[in-house]
Amino acid sequence: MKSEYAVPLWHDEHERFLRLLDFLDTEMMCFHEGGHPNYDLMRDVIYYLQHYADRYHHPREDMAFELMLKRDAALAPHIKRLMHEHRVIKTVGNKLYKYLEDIIEDTFIPRETVEAAAATYLVYYRSHIKTEEMEILPQAIHLLQEEDWTQVAAAVPAAPDPLFGNDISARYRDLRIQIAREKALTH
Ligand SMILES: [Fe+2]
Ligand SMILES: [Fe+2]
Repeated sequence: MKSEYAVPLWHDEHERFLRLLDFLDTEMMCFHEGGHPNYDLMRDVIYYLQHYADRYHHPREDMAFELMLKRDAALAPHIKRLMHEHRVIKTVGNKLYKYLEDIIEDTFIPRETVEAAAATYLVYYRSHIKTEEMEILPQAIHLLQEEDWTQVAAAVPAAPDPLFGNDISARYRDLRIQIAREKALTH
């Protein structure tokens, strides 16, 4: 993987995650106002972020961070924080997923509990992506060589994206339609 391809791909994934977070935010607004959000799609968003972003995106980043750190020790505080955030995002995401399951299964759960978890998740995830976009990606272009990107790509076995890729898994078909519709509305 050449560095000039690697960073745009990294950025594209962030853009996709942000679209999903925007959708989640809109649905949470509806929830807050006592409306009827689409809980199934909200759950699919979290499922995707926990199963694709967490399993493929974050381990590749962790590898990129490690390699960048070897070249520029001054990045240590930023990178340490971002790696910690990966763990927080995963924990809060699991919690939010569980709450959405509870709602779908009609198990009582206080609204404030769901709102607090969703707000934490949204704030954390968005600020995490913003920091990476502003502080890490521009540096990665300079610091990482081709052999580093090969290592980054090899951090996890390659897997097709089940939501945004060409071969959409059945689980995400409705979400993909919804996301495409949202995109059409904003363009
Ligand atoms: Fe990250
Ligand atoms: Fe990221």
